[in-house]
Amino acid sequence: MKMLVVFVILLHVSQHASAVEVVEGDHFVLLPCEFPTFELMEPTVVWSRSDLRPSTVHQRQLEGDELTEQNQRYSGRTSMKTDALDTGDLSLNLTNLQLSDSATYTCSVREFGRQWGRSEVQLQVKERFPSWAIVLLGLLVVALIVAVGLLVHFRHYFMSVYKVDVDSGVESVQLPCRTIVHLFKDVRVEWTNSYSKVHVYENGSDRPQEQDPYYRGRTEMKKDLLRTGDLSLTLKKPTDGDTDTYTCTVYSREGNILMKKQVELKVKDCHVEVDSGVESVQLPFKTTGDLPQDVRVEWRTSYTNRKVHVYQNGSDRPEEQEDDYRDRTEMNEDLLRTGDLSLTLKHPTDRDIGRYSCEVYNKEIRRRKTVVIKIQVQQVEVDSGVESVQLPFKTTGDLPQDVRVEWRTRYTNRKVHVYQNGSDRPEEQEDDYRDRTEMNEDLLRTGDLSLTLKHPTDRDIGRYSCEVYNKEIRRRKTVVIKIQVQQVEVDSGVESVQLPFRTTGDLPQDVRVEWMDRDNRKVNFYQNGSDQPEEQDQVYRDRTEMKKDLLRTGDLSLTLKHPKATDTGRYSCEVYSSEKKIQRGKTVQLKVKERTQVKDETVDIRNRSSSTDPTPLMADQSV
Ligand SMILES: *[C@@H]1O[C@H](CO)[C@@H](O)[C@H](O)[C@H]1NC(C)=O
Repeated sequence: MKMLVVFVILLHVSQHASAVEVVEGDHFVLLPCEFPTFELMEPTVVWSRSDLRPSTVHQRQLEGDELTEQNQRYSGRTSMKTDALDTGDLSLNLTNLQLSDSATYTCSVREFGRQWGRSEVQLQVKERFPSWAIVLLGLLVVALIVAVGLLVHFRHYFMSVYKVDVDSGVESVQLPCRTIVHLFKDVRVEWTNSYSKVHVYENGSDRPQEQDPYYRGRTEMKKDLLRTGDLSLTLKKPTDGDTDTYTCTVYSREGNILMKKQVELKVKDCHVEVDSGVESVQLPFKTTGDLPQDVRVEWRTSYTNRKVHVYQNGSDRPEEQEDDYRDRTEMNEDLLRTGDLSLTLKHPTDRDIGRYSCEVYNKEIRRRKTVVIKIQVQQVEVDSGVESVQLPFKTTGDLPQDVRVEWRTRYTNRKVHVYQNGSDRPEEQEDDYRDRTEMNEDLLRTGDLSLTLKHPTDRDIGRYSCEVYNKEIRRRKTVVIKIQVQQVEVDSGVESVQLPFRTTGDLPQDVRVEWMDRDNRKVNFYQNGSDQPEEQDQVYRDRTEMKKDLLRTGDLSLTLKHPKATDTGRYSCEVYSSEKKIQRGKTVQLKVKERTQVKDETVDIRNRSSSTDPTPLMADQSV
């Protein structure tokens, strides 16, 4: 039965440009959507259906899923990739498909109320087959299984191209090739790929002198291959440079081709992962040594095909490389002799993320390798309402006196903190960072360029980059600030709930404290030493209370009386003084659960049992 279901899914998940078809009861479907959300400071992705109220199917923002406004019928059935906003893959995974899920789904990306992108996916959930069709299908499946089984068993005789996938780094890989032709002792077997002779076997023994030196010592055929007809080749220590189509050809003594089979080998990319802000990253490529003098070595970006580093006739050719790699690349001395063509790329930034390939060639030889650079962007996660957050960046010490250090928001490029000629330059930073940033003393000597950002609020969520440079040097690091929103959960029916916010005390007299709800309604407003009920929204009239002495203690928690299920949502508190000298904030997510009937019943039962059967536990203890 399981087989049948799998088959039905295979048959019926078909994906067109933006239309997806599945069958009712399928386990899950992925609705595709892509957008470079990593370019945005504070993206919100909303999957919705305009024909429903509420229309939200799933919502994701930097802090995670935000499902308070999700339509009930999708409850527990949706998910997005954990790193969706970092990768831009915003696909929605919808599970337990129902006929009523057929609709047009909109994937929209917003930031601060502005819509940046939008795409639509049409989902069609079809009814399962009637039973006669299932029976027919069952018979078909049985026939198919038998056919596939036969094909798998005899695949080496039937298939013209056989595919082998391995990870780079495995000890060895086998390229299968079998024959049912009777092999005489004088046959010649040749394994070749697009560029070279990989292995030659003739008259009962291997002929290493005929094979490409790159493969010398790395290949092996079976001992008794003439008897068994198993001509498979073992290739040791495959790298992604070995990715190619390999042909196994059997020749008779007269040179006639008796048999020819192809194997496609794919060795997965080599991945190099470094932290943002490191000195350099190495793209490894070791080939055989003693390369001829006239080879040309080219490192390029794989998709855009830009030249990163070129080496020819025994020396680097900086005039051929793209400007943004100038002075940033280095290859080993003596690379022709050692065959070590690894490239060092200095001060990689997140612009350098991607796939690179190196090709070394002359008229006779050609080898290739691809390397993928990944850069870990450091994430700093703090709780909403903390005193400060530190954006770490430690580089090499003893920086020259004339460097300039700039911390900026990564995408909107606003100046957060600037340091030059040995001192901070507050006149250059944006107003909302004034008095909120701090760098270490003595940073040029220590190389510790970390930034302390005081009183971070939700507005500070996002990517920051620090660049340190003068004419000679340039280094950069990116850090992401995430702020954890505090969750408060209560049952409806409780007396009151507290939305906590404690900040440093001794706040100035002129401070204003404003609690707002998710719809931007004023929940509570405090100014000139007292609450201002006339400013608050009537929904919250007589339902809020702040602490007595809050300026001295810094305890700005809000008490909300008689919370109801409709109070569920996000609450944020902002504190500011008249000249905006002080600015602090905190966000709390409140969830008020509907009290269920079941709970009431348990209370009833307990009351009843205690009245009819007085304290049995006490009785036991007294014995
Ligand atoms: C979708 O979610 C289901 C249930 O959590 C899971 O089994 C499935 O692997 C997911 N699909 C993808 C492609 O992530």
